[in-house]
Amino acid sequence: MDEYLRVNRENWDERAPAHAASPGYEVQRFIDDPSFLSRVVRFDEPRLGDIRGLEAVHLQCHIGTDTLSLARLGARMTGLDLSPASLVQARALAERAGTAIRYVESDVYSALDVLRPASYDLVYTGVGALCWLPSIERWAQVVTGLLKPGGRLFIRDGHPMLFTLDETYTDKLVAEYPYFEREEPLVFASAATYVATDVTFSETTTHEWSHGIGEIVTALINAGMQITGLAGHGSVPWEALPGQTTLDESSGEWRLTDRPWRLAASFTLQARKL
Ligand SMILES: C[S@@+](CC[C@H](N)C(=O)[O-])C[C@H]1O[C@@H](n2cnc3c(N)ncnc32)[C@H](O)[C@@H]1O
Repeated sequence: MDEYLRVNRENWDERAPAHAASPGYEVQRFIDDPSFLSRVVRFDEPRLGDIRGLEAVHLQCHIGTDTLSLARLGARMTGLDLSPASLVQARALAERAGTAIRYVESDVYSALDVLRPASYDLVYTGVGALCWLPSIERWAQVVTGLLKPGGRLFIRDGHPMLFTLDETYTDKLVAEYPYFEREEPLVFASAATYVATDVTFSETTTHEWSHGIGEIVTALINAGMQITGLAGHGSVPWEALPGQTTLDESSGEWRLTDRPWRLAASFTLQARKL
């Protein structure tokens, strides 16, 4: 296994149980209310449209809250993730919710070895996924390989413009990190995560990459996809820039407090396999 995968997997394995126990992921609400959907999927629902009966795969599904939400919207779900500890939580949640979901442990780049090629109507990828992948070209080839002809990709993720910003500033937007994809990873060491938890983490190193919007679009077109939608959003579902963002209670998303029109914080991209 590549070193970056090992390092990132250890980081996610440690975070998974803490996330499942955190108020932010609202796991108990999924059990108590069979119609409950994650905030991310509630945000996505108007753009996702009707997914009832679709054969769908959720890449980088983490602890499965979005995967379960998509199943509740009527898709037959498979979830794929690198982190076995995340999948322990995802399987436990699906079982407690009484929903059949297939979970598969794999690196995204090996997805075509563990899932049937050209067998999915929908590939879904959620917030906080692409930054873990070194090459957007390779990702686009996997997405296209999984889809049936006419099948579609739905991705919402943090905007690469947001990822350029140094979050230690609390009074201005400072572009410190790459916007475009670079071969070298950004190596971070952070004991924090994006939901409230009392857990002290020890596997704090991560290896991450940025991918510009143009690079993502071009990679998909080169892999045989037709772009059918691209939207920028002023909000993200985590407190991305502490001190500079305000929580909108109705959507559960954070946006810049001062002149929010300055920042594309997340984006939704949709594409169809030709
Ligand atoms: C930020 S989480 C995804 C969050 C998800 N949208 C949610 O809120 O539940 C990122 C996930 O990507 C997974 N991941 C990171 N690198 C991966 C890779 N190369 N292949 C598959 N999964 C990967 C991690 O294990 C983690 O579960």
